[in-house]
Amino acid sequence: MSKRKVTKAIFPVAGLGTRFLPATKSIPKEIMTLVDRPLIQYAIDEARAAGIKEFIFVTSRGKSALEDYFDRAPELESSLKKAGKEQLLDILKDTNMDSGAIAYLRQDRPLGLGHAVWCARRMIGNEPFAVLLPDDVIAAEKPCLQQMVEAYEQTGGNMVAAMEVPPEKASAYGVLDIGEDMGSIVKAKGMVEKPKAEEAPSNLAVIGRYILSPKVMTNLNKMKHGAGGEIQLTDAIAEEVANGEVYGFRFRGQRYDCGSKAGFLQATVAFGLARPDLRDEFNAYLHDMVALQKAAQ
Ligand code: G1P
Repeated sequence: MSKRKVTKAIFPVAGLGTRFLPATKSIPKEIMTLVDRPLIQYAIDEARAAGIKEFIFVTSRGKSALEDYFDRAPELESSLKKAGKEQLLDILKDTNMDSGAIAYLRQDRPLGLGHAVWCARRMIGNEPFAVLLPDDVIAAEKPCLQQMVEAYEQTGGNMVAAMEVPPEKASAYGVLDIGEDMGSIVKAKGMVEKPKAEEAPSNLAVIGRYILSPKVMTNLNKMKHGAGGEIQLTDAIAEEVANGEVYGFRFRGQRYDCGSKAGFLQATVAFGLARPDLRDEFNAYLHDMVALQKAAQ
């Protein structure tokens, strides 16, 4: 069992975001805003809280807005400074990255999540690494990846975030075959990507947070095509089950699927209600709205 500090994270952001067309015709879906912050900012903040120091983005054509987002904006900064808008300058600080802490790689062909992660192999080298899928936004008192890093300190190996889903939804996810259930940590005896409903080994689904050993990168070298004809990250992780080194982690928090319109709307409501500056007005509006809906029925 190998254990080391996790300081590198991969953010696969090459997807076309076709579910959000026409919005995603000219903006990457990771730049779409939840309240007033782009989706990607939530994932970056979570990674930072977990101790990540190097941020690797796997991008594709049309994602330059992402690179600009994390760049300094000298003109904007100096005009805010002149206007004495210190609060706004503070907000901008969250978007700044230390020099050399962020890297962008291109995935040249859309061959799947496993392939996107594999594109970062040279930057990962022989170290454990995290993967965060920005579509999965997780509201939690202690950020999800931080919870996982703490659990990983006990287990080592490979750890995936996991959550019980309604059984009929399991085929939309990677699904764990539970070997030993220790409560928040589950030792997996198998893992399968998007199983047919009747073949799902459980309803414990993989959510987009991973801490992986470099062996998973080596497994990805095989370029094995899996579910949907894509190179699947799940398959490369599943190969480590034989070594007894794959764990599911039932995180404490609420996950929103911001890759779907309904999930994005739910997240918008939840994050809006959680904001002290918006809560009262928004809450009152939602109450009125629900009352109107009921009256109309
Ligand atoms: C990906 C992974 C899947 C995981 C899911 C979580 O699937 O391949 O194993 O359960 O993210 O959101 P996708 O949603 O990209 O099809």
